[in-house]
Amino acid sequence: MSNVETRLKEIISFSTIKQIFDALDEGIIIVDRDYNIIFYNKTLSRIEGLESNNVIGKKLLDVFPSLTPEESTIYQVIKSGKPIFNRYQSYLNYKGKEIRTINSTIPIMENGRVLGALEISRDVSEVYSLSQKVLELQQKLIGKKPRSVNIGLRYTFDSIIGSSQKIRELVGLLKKVAGTTSSVLIYGETGTGKELFAQSIHSASPRKNKPFIAQNCAALPETLLESLLFGTTKGSFTGAEDKPGLFEQADGGTLLLDEINCMGLSLQSKLLRVLQEGVVRRIGATFDIPVDVRIVATTNERPEELLKSGRLRSDLFYRLSVIYVEIPPLRERLEDIEELVDYFIKKYNEKFGKNVKGVERQVMNLFKEYSWPGNVRELEHVIEGLINFVDDGYISVSDLKYLSFGSFKNYIEKKPELPSDVKSQVYEYEKDLIVNALKSTGGNITKAAQKLGIKRQSLQYRLKKYGIDKELYR
Ligand SMILES: Nc1ncnc2c1ncn2[C@@H]1O[C@H](COP(=O)(O)OP(=O)(O)OP(=O)(O)O)[C@@H](O)[C@H]1O
Ligand SMILES: [Mg+2]
Repeated sequence: MSNVETRLKEIISFSTIKQIFDALDEGIIIVDRDYNIIFYNKTLSRIEGLESNNVIGKKLLDVFPSLTPEESTIYQVIKSGKPIFNRYQSYLNYKGKEIRTINSTIPIMENGRVLGALEISRDVSEVYSLSQKVLELQQKLIGKKPRSVNIGLRYTFDSIIGSSQKIRELVGLLKKVAGTTSSVLIYGETGTGKELFAQSIHSASPRKNKPFIAQNCAALPETLLESLLFGTTKGSFTGAEDKPGLFEQADGGTLLLDEINCMGLSLQSKLLRVLQEGVVRRIGATFDIPVDVRIVATTNERPEELLKSGRLRSDLFYRLSVIYVEIPPLRERLEDIEELVDYFIKKYNEKFGKNVKGVERQVMNLFKEYSWPGNVRELEHVIEGLINFVDDGYISVSDLKYLSFGSFKNYIEKKPELPSDVKSQVYEYEKDLIVNALKSTGGNITKAAQKLGIKRQSLQYRLKKYGIDKELYR
């Protein structure tokens, strides 16, 4: 044993390990090979609502009577000696409370013999009930008003602003394909308008009076996304109800799979089967249901890269990208900026009851030089922010002092040729904001940063830059 290891063994006692395990956000249970529970951390006790005194020393199945050896991941791992990662489990504890977790279970081995198993659990009960609520609400909408389910549908091709050749060509092409049922894959950086284009395709299609359902693939754990998409059958897992999935709900319409780049590989292959065969099978069901759904998928990472790194199955990629389009970033179509600025000024004038006429030439020049990493969304936020402070007339360079922290503000601060009075106004304004945040939080950096909507480090950097002493506000 190396020196370091010996030293570590001396320092880390059982009580230290227990402290570490208790401090984790994940539940931890250790079971010996006779299925006696020998360790149970505080987090798991919170998740399951059980006292560790009532659990430790007992047999696993005595504590969780609704589990069977076939269903229990701990049983499987102790039997096989092989780990199981990220398995969804739903069970009742002995008080009858339903628990939903995602577990990874690892065998504890010595000289090839299984001594027991350790299971790490992440509580997903809340995420699950929220996603069920979304499903129920969607079902209610569809059930009541079969012809106007597209409450969330706001955009048509007419909503797409920009006369640049790139945008006009894209709109022309997508108007043509809107009439068919081919799958469309849209690539674009964040904020370029992928959702806007996806909705426009549906609104211009013969399916426009049928459902348009959007599901973000990054927001949910894989197993929940799966039950949401495909539906469930009563009894397929504890607590499961007979529920149609989004494919069934979108029947005859369009399903937007947003951020498909975040979908796990095993779900990708199940999705491929649905697309190829035109049928879905609810989880736990024994029969298929035919569905007629047009798929639009989006990704904010380049498909080539996803394929190269093995995060997107190539067979699914070919299936999805029958029509493939790229939305160019804003910095590659600077000629759209003026129109977008006018459009957003009009929008926020109406919203906030203001009468701003436009932006001064100098401001427009800054807009056109900047690279807009957050694309149209970032531009919209800049305009919205400014209209909060300006009531009428033209937005001038000195109004830029009102900008909130962000990459555009950082950009103008760094510009040497900007008039120095503008810069000093920007600085003064920012300094005031920081001092006020510190005052109201009693000099607490973390809270002040939260209030300002910036990172802790970035606040600390600014304290240094302006020579502000946080101690003065304690
Ligand atoms: N050409 C455009 N004309 C008008 N508004 C636009 C345009 N492009 C984007 N927007 C607006 O910018 C915002 C962001 O658009 P959207 O949500 O469609 O982007 P996204 O590509 O889906 O971004 P993300 O990858 O971050 O999800 C929305 O408010 C949208 O209305
Ligand atoms: Mg989006």
